[in-house]
Amino acid sequence: MTQHDDGPRPLPSRRALLRAGLAGGAVALGGPALAQLGKTNPANLPPNVADWSKMLGDGVAVRTYGKPAKFESHIGRRDVSWLTASPQSSVSFTPLHEIDGPITPNGLCFERHHAGIAELNPTDYRLMLHGLVDKPLMFTLDDIKRMPRVNRAYFCECAANSGMEWRGAQLNGCQYTHGMVHCVMYTGVPLKVLLQEAGVKPNARWLLLEGGDASAMTRSLPLQKALDDALVAYRMNGEMLYPENGYPVRMVIPGWEANMWVKWLRRIEVGDQPWHTREETSKYTDLLENGRARRFTYVMDAKSVITSPSPQAPVNHKSGFTVLSGVAWSGRGKIARVDVSLDGGRNWRTARLDGPVWDKAIARFYYEFDWNGGELLLQSRAVDETGYVQPTKDELRKVRGVNSIYHNNGIQTWLLHRNGEVENVEVS
Ligand code: MTE
Ligand code: CO
Repeated sequence: MTQHDDGPRPLPSRRALLRAGLAGGAVALGGPALAQLGKTNPANLPPNVADWSKMLGDGVAVRTYGKPAKFESHIGRRDVSWLTASPQSSVSFTPLHEIDGPITPNGLCFERHHAGIAELNPTDYRLMLHGLVDKPLMFTLDDIKRMPRVNRAYFCECAANSGMEWRGAQLNGCQYTHGMVHCVMYTGVPLKVLLQEAGVKPNARWLLLEGGDASAMTRSLPLQKALDDALVAYRMNGEMLYPENGYPVRMVIPGWEANMWVKWLRRIEVGDQPWHTREETSKYTDLLENGRARRFTYVMDAKSVITSPSPQAPVNHKSGFTVLSGVAWSGRGKIARVDVSLDGGRNWRTARLDGPVWDKAIARFYYEFDWNGGELLLQSRAVDETGYVQPTKDELRKVRGVNSIYHNNGIQTWLLHRNGEVENVEVS
């Protein structure tokens, strides 16, 4: 499912990788179609008649479920071999540098699972709702599909996204530094509707969410959030959920860390206090310098990253008109503004948001400029509708230290070299 490469490594072997060309996105190319990629065939250029203009192509019935052009087959999620002990309890990263707009295509959404992909037969799917309710309920997939549904785009970000960057610049590519995020249009039933049908008792305060995979991934969710905007989702971008993202049903907890977005959802128990399983309390906390820990840091703060130019998306011209682009999101609401700096944070200009700017979703920004061909330190800074401004990495470290691997939303810096290559660096 995911392509595997040894592209990203901790410093100092980063420069060696750049020399080897791996940072330029030329990784894992293969197959006959790709042998022609980047090689111009003069016979296909005007005024000649190109090969594809001389013959009939496939008919309408050949490709019943479409996929990207064969020339795009180098694009894919990738994992990092040294990051986790086993491929079943691991993560693959969204190739942010290869996509545009606010939405992540289904096949490119990063995946994170603790016990591999559960392959559920939808006929045998059941969702149990019990505990402090008037009427315990059991839903089939058809029951859920018969309930009133809504469409909402939300970002989903693992709390560990950018976690490897706490102590300094580590991985050479936004796929690896920021690729534990995706944004899709979900179709699902507000959890509130299910809870109303069951009738929640007055002393109810918390829910336990449980997944159907071997890890179960039990998570506690405050009832208030459940009634606010949580969704029991079964479609992403119009298609049924993909198996790796929780087919046939997953939780969507808008703006909150992704570990609570329980996939392959099989049970919801209503209670009067949190369960806080051992993993929740030991892992999803931020260890501070003084040995104390930040706990229950559910909301993902505003964050952004420039996806192009970036180490995997270098600049292919020497100077002149250049389009800079990136993504921004906030767990507290809509993105209000994105600023861009070309000089490591000394001067800021306002980027152009383009496309829909939804609540708690990825917003796409652009900044067009005339590149003089010199070195630049590229940064982006997100501001959300609450007025929260994305902090620098140093500002974050002052408050949080460097012990945590979670909730790193610091400003990313890319060094654009004169030759168009881009490197992950830090400025202070
Ligand atoms: N749900 C179950 N059942 N099992 C899991 O391992 N992983 C969680 C969450 N939900 C997990 C799960 C974590 S840590 C993350 S980051 C998100 O799923 C990732 O969602 P995705 O695979 O759709 O990107
Ligand atoms: Co996660």
